[in-house]
Amino acid sequence: MKAFPLEPIEKASVDELRALQFKRLKQTLRHAYAHSPVYRRKFDAAGVHPDDLATLADLRKFPFTGKGDLRDAYPFGMFAVPREQCVRIHASSGTTGKPTVVGYTKNDVETWSHVMARSIRASGARPGDMVHVSYGYGLFTGGLGAHYGAEKLGLTVVPFGGGQTERQVQLITDFRPDIIMVTPSYMLAIADEFERQGLDPRASSLRLGIFGAEPWTNDMRATIEQRMGIDAVDIYGLSEVMGPGVANECVETKDGPTIWEDHFYPEIVDPETGEPVADGELGELVFTSLTKEALPIIRYRTRDLTRLLPGTARTMRRMEKITGRSDDMMIVRGVNVFPTQIEELILKQAALAPHYQCILTREGPLDALTVAVECGPGRDPGHGEVQAAAELLAHEIKVYIGTTARIELRPCGGVERSMGKARRVVDQRRP
Ligand code: DLL
Repeated sequence: MKAFPLEPIEKASVDELRALQFKRLKQTLRHAYAHSPVYRRKFDAAGVHPDDLATLADLRKFPFTGKGDLRDAYPFGMFAVPREQCVRIHASSGTTGKPTVVGYTKNDVETWSHVMARSIRASGARPGDMVHVSYGYGLFTGGLGAHYGAEKLGLTVVPFGGGQTERQVQLITDFRPDIIMVTPSYMLAIADEFERQGLDPRASSLRLGIFGAEPWTNDMRATIEQRMGIDAVDIYGLSEVMGPGVANECVETKDGPTIWEDHFYPEIVDPETGEPVADGELGELVFTSLTKEALPIIRYRTRDLTRLLPGTARTMRRMEKITGRSDDMMIVRGVNVFPTQIEELILKQAALAPHYQCILTREGPLDALTVAVECGPGRDPGHGEVQAAAELLAHEIKVYIGTTARIELRPCGGVERSMGKARRVVDQRRP
């Protein structure tokens, strides 16, 4: 790959980085306190003032922000600038009730495009490449976030969006893009469609995929890389903090997303007590924005579980690939189970395809877990090899995860396909 100069801050020393973070954090706290009545109330109630920040560690004195704060202030009540100064609104659909609404000033869109361009470059893209964007456009931040960043880096963007899988394959074949940006689950659906059309996905022009918006395992990375003949890197972000591009893997190491710490300050806290834990320890990821204007976000509880790791390809810290969201955690007869744990075990079975859903039901007073999983291509549920794989899968779930699961074999196409984020957990326990 051609060498490509990094931004000076990507190579800055840790001391330089901490100094910049402190300066920006102070500004952010002051801005939030002065211009957002919600933050002023929260800080006053907690008895803290932006002047109380003497070191970065003092951030722990400030109150957390959660999805509930944004929902209570629906739609624009948390903004720290007049709505007229926002050039863009996005929203993420919650599973219940009203969406969470976020706003961006002109500078915010500029910052976001900048970190997205940095992310796409860290993934291995270079000016002049063509990128096919299959993240949804619209209120979801995936499509437009990818789009602005790719344009800023000097790529040719094909703004396809989600859906119309047959046409996605046609345009990838005809336009010959170098890169695809899409959720990992939808990548698999596109790979299936290549094969359905009698095309070898490995022979496509794609050399790189930038995947995120949902948890996916390193085994899924290996499967996608092998099936598509590409490098697969992880992009992380969330609308409340900015959108995609909060953190991104560097293609040369593929060892977990590097957090763009000059714009987003990470902490890991114990999900129960809220107490910060040391780097390297597992807990809930919390972010504070350092440069946002319209919606500064102070100690936002992401619900994502991970740990902070030292920098490798960059001086900035990395986060371990997300193993799950606390919201996605299933408690089956007292055992905590994440869909990604099931995914890892499914990927070990060559006779099964990694299209799956975890279905929770109630059997009398007890929870029951059913894993609906598709047979591999050209096989059906009656196939001996497939049945043996299902038995082995149930056994491994019992041994490695510690819970009993019923395996429901479905024919190819039998598990709901998402055009974006896959729905991994279907909870049928409540009426
Ligand atoms: O999903 C932003 C995004 C778009 C990221 C495109 C990457 C690519 P939300 O809809 O607000 O924003 O959802 C954010 O998705 O808290 C995580 O639980 C999950 N998530 C996002 N990226 C990853 C990832 C976008 N790389 C929520 N790995 C987050 C695991 C991810 N989970």
